[in-house]
Amino acid sequence: MHAPRAMFSAVHWSGDRLGLLDQTLLPHREAWMDCASAQDVGAAIGRLAVRGAPNIGIAAGYGVALEVRTAPSGWEPGVAALRAARPTAVNLAWAVDRVVAATRAAQAAHGPAAGPPAAPGAAEALHAAENAASERVAAAGADLLAEYGARRVLTHCNTGVLACASGGSALGCAITHARATPGASVLACETRPLLQGARLTVWELERARVDHALLADGAAAGLIARGEIDAVIVGCDRVAANGDVANKVGTYAHALAARAANIPFLVAGPVSSIDPALARGAAIEIEERDADEVRRAPGGELLTLATTPVRNPAFDVTPAGLIAALVTERGVARPVDRASVAALLGP
Ligand code: MRU
Repeated sequence: MHAPRAMFSAVHWSGDRLGLLDQTLLPHREAWMDCASAQDVGAAIGRLAVRGAPNIGIAAGYGVALEVRTAPSGWEPGVAALRAARPTAVNLAWAVDRVVAATRAAQAAHGPAAGPPAAPGAAEALHAAENAASERVAAAGADLLAEYGARRVLTHCNTGVLACASGGSALGCAITHARATPGASVLACETRPLLQGARLTVWELERARVDHALLADGAAAGLIARGEIDAVIVGCDRVAANGDVANKVGTYAHALAARAANIPFLVAGPVSSIDPALARGAAIEIEERDADEVRRAPGGELLTLATTPVRNPAFDVTPAGLIAALVTERGVARPVDRASVAALLGP
């Protein structure tokens, strides 16, 4: 049994406003921003002030509540725009649809005025459920890392409490495991181009007082091949019905390196990241982001020519066959395939 980690959330609902820890400013500034409308929440999601699949969903749930309060009889267009703020993490559409369903049910039964009280309740319930799910994921993933005898755990992007309710997903597993395992450490990949690993994962590891080191993304395969990593664990933005996983760009390369070195490649996330409607990973829409994210450093400094053509896919897809296990709050799928993913979702 693992002790729960101290409760922290990057998403704070005060009953009529949504506060978000602006992750674009970390690790140097901890500043909260205030959202008063679905448009504010959609903009925050688009510029990654709030990010990580589960937290995008949680914030969007509150975004629906804000919109329904502002326009009880005409909230649909604002909510549709919020739902489209980013395409890859299924949690966004999943959360919006849940809060919308609760709002519609209340309005159908009692008229438009019933929407404003119903929507925040649904968003809060979703947030509480995601908190509980992420705490179970962190504990189950820690147990799995212990079972594999992993001491040196590599992770990519940021999948802790900044991304994922109160327990985190992959980083939550790695931190929980490291705290219970003498000599354990976490290796964090920088995660070009937006440096979620360098800026956010390291911030969380420092706060958790877990032994860690930062590495350039391109260094991971060599360290894995040299036997300096025992396991890789990452999060997920969308899991297709066959177990293929979309996650932060660079994930697939780590999975290939892990397979070549015969070490476990693990994925952790809540079942809200599973999309049973998509048969396989090739059908997942991959967000292509602005070229300047690649051309420029976070401070704006040009790293290349101002006009250099760029490709900037924010995610890639790792085939289920490369994934040793998928850890969720409802259990572990191992091997990862259509049947084990369906079993997680239940009848
Ligand atoms: O673009 P981001 O920072 O939102 O991407 C986040 C990731 O890819 C995470 O690995 C994923 O959302 C899982 S978070 C539990």
